[in-house]
Order: sequence, then structure tokens, then C-alpha cells
Amino acid sequence: MAEILFIPQTSSKSAIYEAILPQIEALVADETDLVANLANVAAVLKEAFGFFWVGFYLVKENQLVLGPFQGPLACTRIAFDKGVCGACYTRRETLLVPDVEAFPGHIACSSLSKSEIVVPGFKNDQVALVLDVDSDQLNDFDETDRVGLEALMRLVEKFL
Ligand code: SME
Repeated sequence: MAEILFIPQTSSKSAIYEAILPQIEALVADETDLVANLANVAAVLKEAFGFFWVGFYLVKENQLVLGPFQGPLACTRIAFDKGVCGACYTRRETLLVPDVEAFPGHIACSSLSKSEIVVPGFKNDQVALVLDVDSDQLNDFDETDRVGLEALMRLVEKFL
């Protein structure tokens, strides 16, 4: 396991994604426990980008249930037809929400959350979990995050 995380001191988000993805791949390579791996992935993302909230919701018992995360207390269960996470599950695609107030049905786990990106992860062609990242700034996520986090989820899918 990689014990030291190298994060380039740059304002280029794509350079940071490029640097952390292979490290995450190495970090999870020898560990088979799902919770342990998801916890470390959330920790790396928090450390690399300083995200306000970053974590996973896992499909369990016909809903999304809170998994490993970094950040403030969060809602524990989300119905498939609720919130940005539910919409991501239903549409099976990444949702980029520049202003959460403008997203019908958005669930405000924290009133400080202003923008959000949610990325699905698949197992046997079914959504098995979603990665949710929240910012306390409006319009804080872009195509670089979409590309970087979707690439990350392809790594996550390998250990699901
Ligand atoms: N805002 C999400 C709920 C999860 S929290 O942000 C951590 C949503 O609308 O699905």
C-alpha cells in the first residue's frame, strides 16, 4: 500500500487528478475490504482538493445509504427519487449542479452546501453506489472534475 500521498502544489485541478489517480489505484490494490477502500478514497479526495464534503452513498435495501465520507454530518438515507444523488442513480449519469438551490428536490444536508457533483459507479451494469462531492462555493465544479471523478469511479468499480 502507498503510505505517503503526493499532492502536487498547483492550482491545476487536472494535474492533481492525474497525480492522485495512480496513487489511489496503488492504495486499493492490495485491500479487498470495501469500506476500508472507500474510506481511503474519500480521505485522499478531501486531502487533495479540500472538498467541503465528499463521500459515498451505497445502494442498499432499495435506497441510497450513507457510506464512508469526509466532512460534516450527512443524511443517512436517500430515496431513489429524491435529491441530486437519487437523480444520479435514476439517470445513471454524472450530475453537475452549479447552484443547489436551483435543483428541484435537492436535499440540503448542510445549508452551507452551494454546488455539487454526483457520479455513479456501476457493478454488473447496475448503479451500485454514487460519489457525492459538495462545495460551499457556487459553481465550484466543472468538466475537469467530471472527467477526473468519472475516471476515479472506474477504479472504484474494480473493487466493488
Ligand atoms: N445534496 C445531496 C444529499 C447528500 S449531501 O449533500 C451529503 C442530494 O441532494 O442528493
